This record gives sequence, structure tokens and C-alpha cells, in this order.
Amino acid sequence: MRKRISKILITGGAGFIGSAFVRLLVNKWERSYFFAKNRNAPILIDKLTYAGDLKRLEEVKGKFKFYKTDICNKTSIQEIFEKERPDIVMHFAAESHVDRSINDATPFIDTNVKGTQILLDVSRKYQVNKFIHISTDEVYGEIPNGKFSEDSLIKPNSPYAASKAGADLLVQSYIKTYKFPAIIIRPSNNYGPWQYPEKLVPLAILRILGGEKIPVYGKGVNVREWLYVDDCVRGVLAIMQKGKIGEIYNLGSTCESKNIDTVKLLLKTLGVGQDRFEFVKDRLGHDIRYSLNSRKITNELGWKPMIGLMPGLKLTVDWSLKHQIWLKSKLKDINQFYKYGTK
Ligand SMILES: NC(=O)c1ccc[n+]([C@@H]2O[C@H](COP(=O)([O-])OP(=O)(O)OC[C@H]3O[C@@H](n4cnc5c(N)ncnc54)[C@H](O)[C@@H]3O)[C@@H](O)[C@H]2O)c1
Repeated sequence: MRKRISKILITGGAGFIGSAFVRLLVNKWERSYFFAKNRNAPILIDKLTYAGDLKRLEEVKGKFKFYKTDICNKTSIQEIFEKERPDIVMHFAAESHVDRSINDATPFIDTNVKGTQILLDVSRKYQVNKFIHISTDEVYGEIPNGKFSEDSLIKPNSPYAASKAGADLLVQSYIKTYKFPAIIIRPSNNYGPWQYPEKLVPLAILRILGGEKIPVYGKGVNVREWLYVDDCVRGVLAIMQKGKIGEIYNLGSTCESKNIDTVKLLLKTLGVGQDRFEFVKDRLGHDIRYSLNSRKITNELGWKPMIGLMPGLKLTVDWSLKHQIWLKSKLKDINQFYKYGTK
């Protein structure tokens, strides 16, 4: 008898990481989907905020079902669950940019906290088999030395990180209170194709393409752990398939780099002068360093990152040069947001 294919519902599927996950899922399982006559094609829910874009999914067009909906709209989410009856929920949808959360935390609390609660309640009502919550390393706060493990305390600093931590606590409370079958994943800083160019790597590329300098916060000494998006979604898939219910998994690359060094690597990859950056006023409350101990996923599930920082930046630059029209289409919004100079 042929194994039944799980019906997977993905929130934030038109976003940077969510869309990479959808592409991986469809490409990996295309044959199975063919056999299932598309009955179990992934179901995407996305509000298509400024950060959502279906162009990210053009290569898998027709191989997923799409609902343009806000996860905060409980009636609409219930109707979708009633119709689709998903087995697994992959929850990527979020307001994701720290700078925007510093300007206004409201949409962060709405989507990241309230939206997650609605999704949890509806998923519980429809008895999903698995709920995978995509969190972030930022919930732990900053760590000048050492690494965060899954049982480190959460101590978020930005409104974004606080809203994600709120969501994590809700998920954990549902696991404990209702024996709800959830798993939390905490990835480090992602970069790669299709990232909205408000985040450091694509913003830097966009500025250079526009003949400008790259804005670097403070003195550029803040350290991030850079995870190539394809490595991230392979990790997410491994956890979806083999992760233990009720657990938390860190998902980091070990590729730590100061922002200034990342920018210099990018300048080298782009083949432009090493002086094409400028220091700008630091971000408020800027966390000095994030660093994850990700041994658990490697030891338990066999996942390892495959793409180092230098090759990952090269892949990202090559992709960006081929997708300049898409990147530049976001310029008006980026300039509007950063109208007082890059924060
Ligand atoms: N980008 C990173 O470096 C990073 C690192 C760790 C964790 N994460 C987490 O991974 C997830 C995905 O991040 P991303 O970088 O792809 O974000 P993104 O901003 O690129 O995409 C978010 C997606 O969610 C959708 N969305 C936002 N609000 C919604 C709502 N109310 N209802 C339905 N859809 C809504 C947007 O339209 C967009 O398509 C987020 O939960 C984020 O917190 C991101």
C-alpha cells in the first residue's frame, strides 16, 4: 500500500524562508505529488505584507494552493482548516525586521503573538499531528561569549525578539497544558536568494548596485551567525520529518562574523573597493552577538550546514546580479522606510 502523504499547511509561504521551504518541499517530493494527483499539494497562507511576494514561488507555480489571508483573522483561518484539514502546520509567518519593530511594535504583537495564538487554537481544534513553530535565536538575547543551548533562558531585547519570545512561550504553554504536538525551531541569521532587501546582506548588495555606500551600524562590531537559507530549510524539513514532539531545536551554522567583516566579504565578492561602506548611527539596543550551540539537531537528526559564509555570499551575489529588477522593485519601500538615514 502506498504511504499516505501528509497534508502540509505553511504560513508565511510567500516570505523569504517560507518560500525556500515550499520550493524544497515541492522539488523534493514532486514525484509523490504527481502520484497523489496534487491532492496533497502544500497549502500556503500569507497576508502578502510588504515582505511577502509570490514571485518567489514562480518556479513551483501550480504546485501549491494559496490563500491570501491574515493569520489574525480567526474566521478565515478556521474556514481554511475546515476545508483543507491539514496534518502538519509549518508556522513561518511573522513580522520579521528588527528595525521596523523599533519604529512600531504593534504589527509585531498582532502577527507574532496574537496570530500565533489563533493558529495554535485552530490547529488544536482540528487536531493537527504536528505544529512546527519557526522562532529565532534572537529570543535568547545577546551573548558576548559562549553559546546559547536550547535550555538557555530567553531574554529578548528588541520588540521583534520579545514578540517572538511571547509566541515561543505560548507554544510551550500549549505543549504542557494540552499536550499539543508542537516543536520550536530557533534558526540564526539567514541570508540567500529572495531575501527582502531591508536586511543587511541584500541591502548591502542593493546599495552597491545603486552606486551608493553600504550603511553599517555603529562600528560594525556586532556578530551574527550566518546561515544560508537552503541549509536552514533542510534543517526545518529534517525537524518536520524526524524531530521530537515537545522539543526545541537550535539551527545555526557556526559561521560567525562581525557585520563589518561580512560587508567587506561582500565588497570583495562584488569586485568593488573595500571603502564602499560608511558607519551610521547605531541601532537602538543593538545586540552585540548571537551564537548558537546546534549540536542537538546534528546529533539527533544528522543535519549539518553545507554552505560556508564565503560560498554562500558568492551564491547570493550571483543570484542578486541575475535578479536586479526584483531587488530594485523594493527600493522605493526601502528608501521610504530608511528616509531618516539607515538606522
Ligand atoms: N530572516 C531571518 O534571518 C530569520 C532568522 C531566524 C528566524 N526567522 C523567522 O523565520 C520566519 C520567516 O522569516 P522570513 O525572513 O522569511 O520573514 P519575511 O518577512 O521574509 O516573511 C514573512 C512572511 O509572513 C507573511 N506575513 C506577515 N504577517 C502575516 C500575517 N498576519 N498573516 C499571514 N501572513 C503574514 C508576510 O507576507 C511574508 O510573506 C519568521 O518567523 C522569522 O521570525 C527569520
